Amino acid sequence: MKIAFHLFVHCSLLVFVSCYGYDPLENALKIQRSKRTIPNHVTKEDATVGNSYTPVYVGPKDGLKEADKISELPGQPAGTDFDQYSGYVTVDPSHGRALFYYLAESPVNSSTNPLVLWLNGGPGCSSFGNGAMMELGPFRVNADNTTLSHNKYAWNKVANVLFLESPAGVGYSYSNTSSDYITDDVQTAKDSYTFLINWLERFPEYKTRDFYIAGESYAGHYVPQLAQLILQNNKITNQTVINLKGIAIGNAYVDDETTYTGIYDYFWTHAIISDEIHEGIIFHCNFSEGATRTDACNDYQNQAFAAKSNIYFYDIYTPLCSSFSKSTPSISGFDPCTENYVHGYLNTPVVQLSLHAKPVQWESCSDFINSHWKDIPFTVLPVIQDLMASGISVWIYR
Ligand SMILES: *[C@@H]1O[C@H](CO)[C@@H](O)[C@H](O)[C@H]1NC(C)=O
Ligand SMILES: *[C@@H]1O[C@H](CO)[C@@H](O)[C@H](O)[C@H]1NC(C)=O
Ligand SMILES: *[C@@H]1O[C@H](CO)[C@@H](O)[C@H](O)[C@H]1NC(C)=O
Ligand SMILES: *[C@@H]1O[C@H](CO)[C@@H](O)[C@H](O)[C@H]1NC(C)=O
Ligand SMILES: *[C@@H]1O[C@H](CO)[C@@H](O)[C@H](O)[C@H]1NC(C)=O
Repeated sequence: MKIAFHLFVHCSLLVFVSCYGYDPLENALKIQRSKRTIPNHVTKEDATVGNSYTPVYVGPKDGLKEADKISELPGQPAGTDFDQYSGYVTVDPSHGRALFYYLAESPVNSSTNPLVLWLNGGPGCSSFGNGAMMELGPFRVNADNTTLSHNKYAWNKVANVLFLESPAGVGYSYSNTSSDYITDDVQTAKDSYTFLINWLERFPEYKTRDFYIAGESYAGHYVPQLAQLILQNNKITNQTVINLKGIAIGNAYVDDETTYTGIYDYFWTHAIISDEIHEGIIFHCNFSEGATRTDACNDYQNQAFAAKSNIYFYDIYTPLCSSFSKSTPSISGFDPCTENYVHGYLNTPVVQLSLHAKPVQWESCSDFINSHWKDIPFTVLPVIQDLMASGISVWIYR
């Protein structure tokens, strides 16, 4: 990818100002750390599926692949030479819970290229709107909100890329049982697994294909957790064995302590905060698990975010949308108003119809999902160690 753009979720200055006294980084990341109930990696019961394994729900599949084929997306450019599919996979029929996916196949060598599942973070952010339409998907939405152009950095040139809106309540994914929107890492991994088993029934040609999971930001939790669940279930399932070869996580949120220290180091080494603020953080803040966050630490963190001011948190060299104009282009060439175009496009009824999506108000990130998240393990490093020991490829990049 050309740009170092990524999302935890979008932060707003208003949030920092109105939430003074709270941890500013938590506000920036919108992670509700106070809600954390599970201290470490995926809980023991889930980590040891062992005898408790029961087959996951498998729904009907006949005719669904054909029904999911996108004939063409409104406004798509000429020369679109690959197949696209999108639709819902039910993961819990009794609750009426269904996850939305978008598959962009490769123009060349689709039948031999690997399958890559892509996940955005949040928790609560849409993999389709952010991942596919702003980052690595085949298209970008133009400033008119209605036409698309080719993304020359599209990953589907080398892989068949499956974007999953996860969990239910994110993007076009939904549940008919509203209490499902209060969810967590563990349920998200389980639903994503059930999704994959069902999706592979719908697209059986991918059952034995090399499979990778990639994602960014809070998907630094989702990706390793899902990979771990797949490897565990592969050992004992009488359902499909998923041919997982590796994972890749970029700008990933994997460990609270390194995230905190890393962000302030980054601010300091990019001339966003002064030596004094940096030293204040080093001296007063202990970001280890269980450490008490002192007032002095919070104060220096607030100073750091005040110094950052209106520099765009996710790509410091890109201007804000509000101050962007053709005369001040961003260094990366990325248009920081892209999010608005995507929002406009994905809320157009004819677009939703062509995607086989429910007619809903589509949001880039769900505040409800984010603010009700039940568990935020302090670190997923033990899960990553487990995956490395298993022999699959693990790539962590930024
Ligand atoms: C949710 O409810 C609607 C309306 O009853 C129904 O059409 C739909 O199939 C349900 N969704 C799922 C995933 O069961
Ligand atoms: C398609 O596969 C062939 C055979 O492996 C390879 O030589 C070629 O470079 C591939 N083309 C693309 C566009 O990936
Ligand atoms: C898998 O095992 C369960 C019992 O553990 C059984 O109910 C189910 O029918 C089996 N499925 C297949 C496809 O054999
Ligand atoms: C930071 O807090 C942890 C957990 O309470 C503690 O073990 C550690 O010694 C503290 N580090 C420093 C430098 O005080
Ligand atoms: C595009 O959509 C955004 C967000 O919905 C909206 O604010 C903007 O006015 C739209 N632009 C055009 C040209 O319609």
